[in-house]
Amino acid sequence: MWITRFLTSSIGKKWVMSLTGLFLIVFLLVHLSGNLSIFYPDAGKTFNIYADFMANNPIIGTIGFGLYAMILIHAIQGVLLSLKNKKAKGQAYAKRDTQGSWASKNMALLGILILAFLFIHMGDFWWKVKWAADSPIVAVDYGNGEIGNLYERVVISFSKPWIVISYIVGLIGLAFHLWHGFESAFQTLGLNHKKYTPLISGLGKLYSILIPLGYATMPLYILFFKS
Ligand code: HEM
Repeated sequence: MWITRFLTSSIGKKWVMSLTGLFLIVFLLVHLSGNLSIFYPDAGKTFNIYADFMANNPIIGTIGFGLYAMILIHAIQGVLLSLKNKKAKGQAYAKRDTQGSWASKNMALLGILILAFLFIHMGDFWWKVKWAADSPIVAVDYGNGEIGNLYERVVISFSKPWIVISYIVGLIGLAFHLWHGFESAFQTLGLNHKKYTPLISGLGKLYSILIPLGYATMPLYILFFKS
């Protein structure tokens, strides 16, 4: 079929990277916006109601499966493309490629760092919330039945310096990955324009700094002001 032929071609594989990458960029903004409710001064009530909605709404649950698929496809395809590029460059010329930013040359490495961060993150929150029998989330009741006190779970995690350090390292990796990835996704899709390309580039740089900074405020705030 033409679509399978396209998706397995060189340009098709790059399109897959771009489209899954753009989906993950949107996810990062949504996840950050919701999580920032942690700062609402009501001892975690808003955050817990938000987290309970995200965990139990069937539509969000379905999108969640799409999200896991996007992460897997993006990671596996990224590693395969990077290995292929390395092999091709080794054959084409012996000298090191000097063009492009440090981030653009280390996208696979940065991606693996982000994946390692995700293992820690999901192991700590998602896994414990859903599966770990030894780590029950204390329930709270705000008048509509019991829901998990995920706020408490987050505070316990972010009170541990090693967890906060792993978050900061992961977020620095994310910043560099987005620094190149955001703009690159638009370029691959052919969305190049004399007028709009500098705008997309500027927006990408801003996004790659503000989003990781936004995430970093939470573990740092809890470590230094709440624990
Ligand atoms: C630093 C502040 C962050 C906080 C407070 C936070 C909080 C949470 C919580 C509470 C959950 C579990 C939701 C549930 O299943 O009930 C979760 C899941 C998740 N987080 Fe984060 N997160 C943060 C940063 C990040 C970052 C930087 C990324 C990506 C690079 C990320 C990616 C994910 C993913 C993929 C899931 C699983 C999605 C799901 O199934 O619901 N998170 N996060």
